[in-house]
Amino acid sequence: MSVIALVPAAGSGSRFGAPSPKQYLQLEGRPLMWHTLSTLSQVPEIDRLAVVISPADEWFDDFEWDIPNLEVLRVGGASRAASVAAGLATLAPAPDDWVLVHDAARCCVTPALVTRLIGALADDEVGGLLALPVADTVKRAGEGGRVERTLARDGLWLAQTPQMFRAARLARALALDGKGAVTDEASAIEMLGFAPRLVEGDAQNFKVTYPRDLALARAILAARKQ
Ligand code: CTP
Ligand code: MG
Repeated sequence: MSVIALVPAAGSGSRFGAPSPKQYLQLEGRPLMWHTLSTLSQVPEIDRLAVVISPADEWFDDFEWDIPNLEVLRVGGASRAASVAAGLATLAPAPDDWVLVHDAARCCVTPALVTRLIGALADDEVGGLLALPVADTVKRAGEGGRVERTLARDGLWLAQTPQMFRAARLARALALDGKGAVTDEASAIEMLGFAPRLVEGDAQNFKVTYPRDLALARAILAARKQ
């Protein structure tokens, strides 16, 4: 049984709003997602590493990647789930292989964090994800920018990646996502009636989404170099 790491990197970064997709922004002299891929390539439990980019990608070939055995799949789709599903179909894993999906945009992930998830799920029937308990008080907004109610914080977690599930079940789950509403693998698996395991993640494993996130990612990566 293998662990196959699949990195969706076919998004356009519309919330970030840079001229190129955020995964190609320069951080510490390398494209942002080079850091992601380089970290995953250092995880001993990972047997294969693939990145999914858009068929229309104009940037990937402009950079030096030097990630050993990286498989580059130009099969990205209109949604994250479609990109993962297309990558999975191209990789053609064995049904029971683990597929570990990690956002290209979470560039501050560490090998230890990935190993923590894989270790926690080794004997798990379903699979699971890194996530963090919600620290702040959570409000539901109502009309006119006013609070409708305060949600009980107990038991609420924020999903991160990596998320790891068996290949055949994940492919079946993603195929259910007709409207592109699924924003992570776990929610697709939940639609099949399974309960993914929550494994404690790390605040440093945040997703670069807005320009304000870049300074923090830079600082974290620079500090690790020292
Ligand atoms: N992704 C993908 N294919 C898509 C959309 C997203 O592979 N059609 C990838 C992104 O490249 C990113 C990850 O999924 O690494 C998480 O998505 P997100 O942070 O939403 O990135 P974007 O979709 O690019 O950003 P935005 O939603 O702001 O447009
Ligand atoms: Mg998106």
